[in-house]
Amino acid sequence: MQAVELIRKKRDGGVLDTDEINWLIEQYTQGAVPDYQMAAWLMAVCWRGMDARETRDLTMAMVHSGDELHVRDIVSPVIDKHSTGGVGDKVTLAVAPLAAACGIAVGKMTGRGLGHTGGTVDKLESVQGFRPELTREEFIHILKTEGVVLAGQSADLAPADGKMYALRDVTGTVESIPLIAASIMSKKLAIGCSHLLLDVKFGSGAFMKTVEKARELAQAMVDIGRLAGIHTVAALTSMEQPLGCAVGNALEMMEAIAILRGEGPEDVSELCYHDVAELLVMTGKAQTMDTAEQQVQQAIRSGAGLAKLAAVIAAQGGDARQVEQPHLLPQAPYKVMLTSPHTGYIAAIDAEAIGLASMRLGAGRFRKGEPVDHRTGLVLQAKVGAYRQAGEPLVEVHARSEAEARDLFETLLACYRWSDTPVQPGALIHEVIR
Ligand code: URA
Repeated sequence: MQAVELIRKKRDGGVLDTDEINWLIEQYTQGAVPDYQMAAWLMAVCWRGMDARETRDLTMAMVHSGDELHVRDIVSPVIDKHSTGGVGDKVTLAVAPLAAACGIAVGKMTGRGLGHTGGTVDKLESVQGFRPELTREEFIHILKTEGVVLAGQSADLAPADGKMYALRDVTGTVESIPLIAASIMSKKLAIGCSHLLLDVKFGSGAFMKTVEKARELAQAMVDIGRLAGIHTVAALTSMEQPLGCAVGNALEMMEAIAILRGEGPEDVSELCYHDVAELLVMTGKAQTMDTAEQQVQQAIRSGAGLAKLAAVIAAQGGDARQVEQPHLLPQAPYKVMLTSPHTGYIAAIDAEAIGLASMRLGAGRFRKGEPVDHRTGLVLQAKVGAYRQAGEPLVEVHARSEAEARDLFETLLACYRWSDTPVQPGALIHEVIR
């Protein structure tokens, strides 16, 4: 087989067979197919697409390119949850321990921030000593003893995806539904949970800008998961405005702790509780969403969810006192309040622009591998639909200097649209593909 033949075939709208896809991914992972040929093939896929069988074959070839954990052979049921990424998305930090507190094992590998979207590992690392890099033995040991493990992405799982993602990032080939679906699902299948809940975001702060595109991606991933024998459900959720109020690593950790105490902002709390209830129903631990939600509320009231977060953080080397007493988490030296320039209703908050503003404070990366400042970020004081008088608090800026905070004011004000008449925010959970 020759790579150039497969590039030509896809360029001309052909359908690759299973052997051709397996060969291409294997040869590329081994370095026998160079980056320039893979880049050309990826671009052909962006233009021509792939059918469901090709997408599944690509996913499986990427899974087989490295180690496979098969966690469901160790603990079952064991769940995984994945969000396609957003601004202020601290859902995993609350859902994983809450699900574990409700009796579902959670084996999760999680990523770092990408562009304007934050990453769960960066948020967890705001806790002193927390260690995301775990050996296979440690991962399994913590899963068995704590019922929840939150590890960083291992380079040994789906290594073809690691290589291909880095290439896509610099060749304009990220935005392809089959490529995104195969990339995400190869990592999930390599871990090998029994049940998977996908949170596919749409809107200004998400990869998928429209609900139609998000639905297409969600359906592609659900189909791959089901064919691989994983009970997969996808929720389409809005990222039209940041999720919750906190954006930034330690700030989001604090908000996750508040959610586990039942004191978090309404939107993000509702999403977290819904996700755990959905997982309880999926795994047969509850018969209906209503009884599942009662179990979730019980885990909040008893403090079991928060205790699980402290336990998994301690098991991974972190200082659990920072979870029990969140004021011990790292804090920025300057907190400067931006006040509302208008009297009126907030009509929109541009999530992507808020994410980028938070990056400028040091909370995210402009280049791969850059360190992040865990202390900095933003705390929104009001969300879409809220009424503000001119001079009332709008955004608290957590910065390394007062000048850095004030420099951002104009950018932040440009993130807001105002209305003189009441505004009803759209539903957060748009639909669920079961
Ligand atoms: N996240 C991934 O893991 N892969 C993609 O292709 C896009 C987002």
